[in-house]
Amino acid sequence: MSRIVVVSNRVPLPSGNAGKAGGLAVALLGLMERRGGLWFGWSGAVTERADAPAFAQRGRVGYATIDLTDAEHRGYYSGYSNGVLWPMLHNLPHLMAFRRQDLETYRRVNRRFAEHLAPLLRDEDRIWVHDYHLMCLPGCLRLRGIRNPTGFYLHVPFPSPDAAAVAPGIRGLVQDVLAADMLGFQTAADRDNFASSAVSFGGALRTGDSTMLCDGRVVRLGVFPAEIAPREFAATAEFQARSESSRLLAKSVQGQALLLGVDRLDPTKGIPERLEAFRRLVARRPGRRVAFLQIAAPSREEVDAYRRLREEIDLAAGSINSEFGEPDWLPLRLLARPQARDTLAGFMRLARVGVVTPLRDGMNLVAKEYVAAQDPADPGVLVLSRFAGAAAQLGSSLMVNPHDAEGVAEALQMALDMPLAERRARWRAAWDAIADTSPEGWGERFLRSLSSDDLAAMPVA
Ligand code: G6P
Repeated sequence: MSRIVVVSNRVPLPSGNAGKAGGLAVALLGLMERRGGLWFGWSGAVTERADAPAFAQRGRVGYATIDLTDAEHRGYYSGYSNGVLWPMLHNLPHLMAFRRQDLETYRRVNRRFAEHLAPLLRDEDRIWVHDYHLMCLPGCLRLRGIRNPTGFYLHVPFPSPDAAAVAPGIRGLVQDVLAADMLGFQTAADRDNFASSAVSFGGALRTGDSTMLCDGRVVRLGVFPAEIAPREFAATAEFQARSESSRLLAKSVQGQALLLGVDRLDPTKGIPERLEAFRRLVARRPGRRVAFLQIAAPSREEVDAYRRLREEIDLAAGSINSEFGEPDWLPLRLLARPQARDTLAGFMRLARVGVVTPLRDGMNLVAKEYVAAQDPADPGVLVLSRFAGAAAQLGSSLMVNPHDAEGVAEALQMALDMPLAERRARWRAAWDAIADTSPEGWGERFLRSLSSDDLAAMPVA
């Protein structure tokens, strides 16, 4: 079996920065532990002199990581990746803050990844590059003469060519991504949007659902929705619902229905819009108390848009509580602190309503976790944005447009009042959609497609 070489910006190092690693790394870690392989990326450290890679080993996984200098971190990570690509890819161009030198730094860091990775590669390796931080990497590796089969997976959405074109530099990035052999996306819409951009400004020709021709080479495209381990998560939730933290939460809501939101504190997650919807919900139910717990884990705090968002939601939360609170009741609890995943699993099981209303999201694994966490005999209701990738699989949830505060308030009301039989039917359909999936299955499907020449076998939905 050939060795797998995963390349990502974040790396879940054995030394324990896994907490910062996010959904991407959680999804990949199990697969890598079972197969063995090399994981290459950023160490998470910002140092004066960022030189050669450091190596570590845990079980069958080798890790090679490089530090970033402060200027690289600012230009590549905060500047271009999260200040330009992230908002553009989520179709929020007004949040973009472009500086030409950041694009230069982004390209330079991608070249540095290639430079340090190339000497570590063996002939039989298959390379799997992840996410928007590393869109130049396939092109940089080819320039260094690396011919190994190379896949690229985008964890976030890809917008229409018109929306993509607003990001200065995107044309070159799309061309560099096309140097890979196989490209993976969360949804068919993302795949088709990327393909349209590849045609519009990458010089590619679309030859089928799953194929493009680019400079005489076939580039394959596939759809691989990211998955969780539902049965494992369900067992954790059942166990954790009896933990001390869950017991205290249940006691504090005093029998009121609990609504729960769990997000990184990110402008794509629609938190201010959600708080506005909640305000309207509380206003339309005088005398009927509910409890909304919104957990918003701080993220990318060096980026302006994230700092402004923090202030905005702090203000909105305060105003809801001061307007509707009573001496013995506050409707909203906002926690700008991360919580352990296990603790959250217990909270999800207690929550009558899971509120997942991003303005746009590649997948949103919280939506799947909320479904998995429910008690099948008395399940809660998922209120889900139609602009989350998860909406393609979880069609039985209450689907909302997060920009329509009144519509979201109505859906929350409907969720709170939903009869048991309907809750069970909706939950069962959602569970059936995810029950037999796993992060390992997701990864294996991608890797099989990367090795296969059988175009008919490419996943299209
Ligand atoms: C999203 C991205 C990942 C990223 C994660 C956490 O899920 O797709 O690539 O790692 O957010 O963000 P951070 O900036 O902390 O790595």
